Formats: sequence, C-alpha cells, structure tokens
Amino acid sequence: MKRNHVLGAKQFDREMLEGIFQTTREMERVVANGGSDRYSNKVMTTLFFEPSTRTRLSFESAMSRLGGKVIGTENAAQFSSTIKGETLEDTIRVVSGYSDVIVIRHTDIGAAERAAAVATVPILNAGDGAGEHPTQALLDLYTIEKEIGRIDGIHIAMIGDLANGRTVHSLSYLLTNYRNIHISFTAPENVQIPTYVKKYLDDHGISYEEEYDLTKVAEKADVLYQTRIQKERFMSLDEYEKASGKYIIDRELLTHMKQDSIILHPLPRAGEIAVEVDEDPRAAYFRQAQNGLYIRMALIEKCFEE
Ligand code: CP
Repeated sequence: MKRNHVLGAKQFDREMLEGIFQTTREMERVVANGGSDRYSNKVMTTLFFEPSTRTRLSFESAMSRLGGKVIGTENAAQFSSTIKGETLEDTIRVVSGYSDVIVIRHTDIGAAERAAAVATVPILNAGDGAGEHPTQALLDLYTIEKEIGRIDGIHIAMIGDLANGRTVHSLSYLLTNYRNIHISFTAPENVQIPTYVKKYLDDHGISYEEEYDLTKVAEKADVLYQTRIQKERFMSLDEYEKASGKYIIDRELLTHMKQDSIILHPLPRAGEIAVEVDEDPRAAYFRQAQNGLYIRMALIEKCFEE
C-alpha cells in the first residue's frame, strides 16, 4: 500500500487479507487483555462529512485502545472550514500536519483518493459517497470467516440497495480474492448492482446471478448480506418508494434459511431486518459490528508499519 493508505478494496490481494485477519485476531486478544499503549505518541484525525455511528466510533475506540489520541469533527461539512469554502485538498494538507493518520468519510465518490494525493500521512477511506467502504468490507469478510470457518466456496446473497450500497461494492471486489464464490444480487430493479461491479466480477471469473426471489435465495445461500435502501441518495421520493420495503428478512424467511447460514448487515437498518430476527443465532450483525473495532485496530497497526 502506497503510504499505507486504505482507499478501496481492489488494493488488497489474498496474502494482504490473511495478514490483516491475523493481526485482527491478535487485536481481539489485545482488547481482552485491557488494551495497549503502543501508539501513545500518535494522533488520529477523524473527518466525517457524512453521519456515522459505527465507523467513526469504532475507529476512535480502536485508536484509544492502542494508546493513541483522537482529534476530529463528526460534522465536518458544518463544523470545519469547508463551510467557508476551503477545498478538501487544503483541509487535508493542513490536517496532515496535525496528525499521523486521517480517517475520512465524504459525500463524493473518489474523495479519499483526492485526499491521498495531497496527504503526507496515511488516509483511511471510511466511505466515499456511493463509491466504496473498504474497511467495512474487511470486517464483513473477517466476520464471514469467523462465523462460517471459511470464505472459499461460499454462496453470498447481497440484498437491498446494491446501487448505492458502497459496502456491497467493496465486498464484491474483496471476494474476487477467493475460490468458488457465488453471489446472488437480490435488489429492486432500480437499485440493482452496477454494471461496473459486474464487469469487475466477470474480469475475475466470479460466478453471480441477479435473482429477484428472496425466498429462493434464502434456501441456498450461506450468507444473507442485507442492506438499507439509502433514502438520502435518491433523486426523487418516487424512485425511493419504488425500492423501499421490497425485501425484508423476518421470522417467516428464517424458516427457509439453512441452519448453518448467517445474516449480516453493515447497519444501520431501517426496517429491512425485523427486530424479531435478532434472537436467532444466525443473526450475526451485532457481532459483525463488534468485529469493526478489531479490524480497525489492525488497520491502524498496518498504517504505522515501516
Ligand atoms: N456500517 C456503517 O458504515 O455504519 P455507520 O454509518 O454508522 O458508520
């Protein structure tokens, strides 16, 4: 990784992924043993131009548990000098001088790459518009391996807003590092998986289908990866309503799922997984969110590797 940035999922190969997951397992032990002070001389800046609960707080917790300090803003669009017209590039040049790593979430696709082009410290992409969310995809993949015991050979169903769901794009790219993967894309037609993602899968020999029957998918998938319909990214309410409420995981759907399958969701949810599902042992989405802490500790460690 150039300057150890994390910008997109395509930058990772299988060896790198296995290295990150090994470090992540070590980080689980670090947390269990009360944390570490190994980065007590390091400062992380979190610059969030879009709302977040999990990504920002798990990065901040990760840095704290490694002894480092955190500065930043949770509403950079309003509370940074962006509102006075400062460019992203100028902000990053300045903040590079205050910190050893910058975590950025932005509304614009490609914002993390723009930041990396001028930064003098590692940039970690915490989501760029409807583009990518590579650190989420890393924790998703880690969760699959931890819950199922393997990644090779899995059948994963990606459900919901696959056009705007940046985690789906990044996870699809990461899966090209594994063997015998099959992906079912189950989405309302106006938010189906983009052509450019399918092209990348074709180029890497990954088997996939567009399947509109969720029950049929649930009967055969090892992983149901549900996502929220991202209301904030639609141009009109009419388009949003065409996509909303079509695919819901509820108690009835559980009866069709394999006993050893799991349900993941990057969260937040907005009704697409009924609360009654939470009690089922296959509901792995809160364990998945917890893994975000460990993955982000591992990524901080990788950032500071020579
Ligand atoms: N999964 C995820 O990115 O959640 P937040 O928007 O809360 O960070």
